[in-house]
Amino acid sequence: MDIRTILIIGAGTMGRQIAMSCALGGYTTILQDISGSALDAARTDLESWADGRVAKGKLQAEFADAALARLSQSTELDASAAQADLVIEAAVERLDIKRSIFAELGKNAPAHAILATNSSTLASSHLAEASGRASQVCNMHFFNPALVMKCVEIVRNEQTSDETIQAVTAVARALGKEPVLVNREIPGFIANRMMGAMQREALNLASAEVASITDIDTTARTALGHPMGPFELMDLVGLDVIDFIAQATYAETGQALDQPHPLITQKVTEGKLGRKSGEGFYEYRR
Ligand code: 3HC
Repeated sequence: MDIRTILIIGAGTMGRQIAMSCALGGYTTILQDISGSALDAARTDLESWADGRVAKGKLQAEFADAALARLSQSTELDASAAQADLVIEAAVERLDIKRSIFAELGKNAPAHAILATNSSTLASSHLAEASGRASQVCNMHFFNPALVMKCVEIVRNEQTSDETIQAVTAVARALGKEPVLVNREIPGFIANRMMGAMQREALNLASAEVASITDIDTTARTALGHPMGPFELMDLVGLDVIDFIAQATYAETGQALDQPHPLITQKVTEGKLGRKSGEGFYEYRR
């Protein structure tokens, strides 16, 4: 399948970096969001990221400029969808909103277009029916920061066709990513299940005052070779996101183990969401 134009829905932390990855991969890319100011903030952020890469000698200026020229932005979902061969939806993690987006995409995207969701918690089978093209729907789950992390989990639902899987796998490779295939829908897919287990243990150790969060993070880095400790990583991902993932997983599994951890709930209640709010388990200078 010939994929030339990719539409990314949602200009948040994930959407904007997925869009830039697509533009750098040579695709004509449209970043769509209902908020014009979110799109402008994303553009400013990506331009400054590109400037930093050029200054560091990691990206040629002409290459960065060409990628930014391939990346357009729009607040119009229907008109953008009409141009797309592949859509990667990275909007807010709400089923009702995603369903209405997929219904619009089903009506407005060309018949051949594949509709993927970046969701880590909502399996694509929940969106397949709304789209009216179930065999062309799957999850394409990127990791934060998406311009850096290589893995893309490609998750098929019962109706996803082999052609769809082959096409999105080829796109992920063209972006320089390492796609992995998840053969059936399971809460948390692969990475968030493993990450959740590690975080649960770290949170339990800290709650029981066995060690400080700093020492737990140091142990993860220096004993296990992780690039970040679990608390540093939760601050990076966002404690609201960690809380939401736990809630969604618990709603699906009903296992007490999956419930949001009280330490996370407390931080979220206090508005301490991690790096994005300036404080989580650690404090960040603005
Ligand atoms: N955006 C873009 N690029 C970034 C970045 C960001 N937010 N943060 C760091 N980078 C780049 C830097 O520019 C640098 O690039 P270079 O080496 O080519 O010059 C490179 O990443 C390394 O950055 P630093 O030297 O500043 O710092 P580190 O070496 O500590 O790396 C890190 C930062 C890449 C974030 C690394 O610590 C890491 O891999 N951490 C783990 C991240 C992780 O586990 N992500 C998955 C989260 S789970 C998830 O996303 C799923 C979701 O469903 C919740």
